[in-house]
Amino acid sequence: MSDIDHKNLMKIALEYRERAYVPYSKFKVGAAVLFESGKIYGGCNVENASFGATNCAERTAIFKGVSEGETKIKAIAEVGSLEEITYPCGICRQVLCEFGDEDMVVILGKSEDDYIVTDIKSLMPGAFRKENIR
Ligand code: THU
Repeated sequence: MSDIDHKNLMKIALEYRERAYVPYSKFKVGAAVLFESGKIYGGCNVENASFGATNCAERTAIFKGVSEGETKIKAIAEVGSLEEITYPCGICRQVLCEFGDEDMVVILGKSEDDYIVTDIKSLMPGAFRKENIR
């Protein structure tokens, strides 16, 4: 049985969504990342006047964890739009590939009770990974 509390991760992602710094797009995104240690890190998107310097919610949460010594993601939840499911961008999918394997649970949703559960293989087929560098 999985010990992953999908609803709780969605709740944390929704809380962090409220912290989004989005003066340009006004598009709030929140994420919650559960690492192997059992700790959960939340993150929001942080935009910049130089648009390319923007950091997505997923990467904010992942980098918070990695900078605390975490290396392996068990699950991630993301909430962007409240009307339709928001999928992670290509750069975040690549970063997820770095710290999560095929077992990583990816939860994408609109509320605590309205989400889908997917995996990185579906989101990033044929991904380039560290194992491919030799
Ligand atoms: N964004 C995320 O934070 N995560 C995603 O998965 C998609 C896009 C942010 C970046 C930018 O601040 C805003 O959404 C609009 O692209």
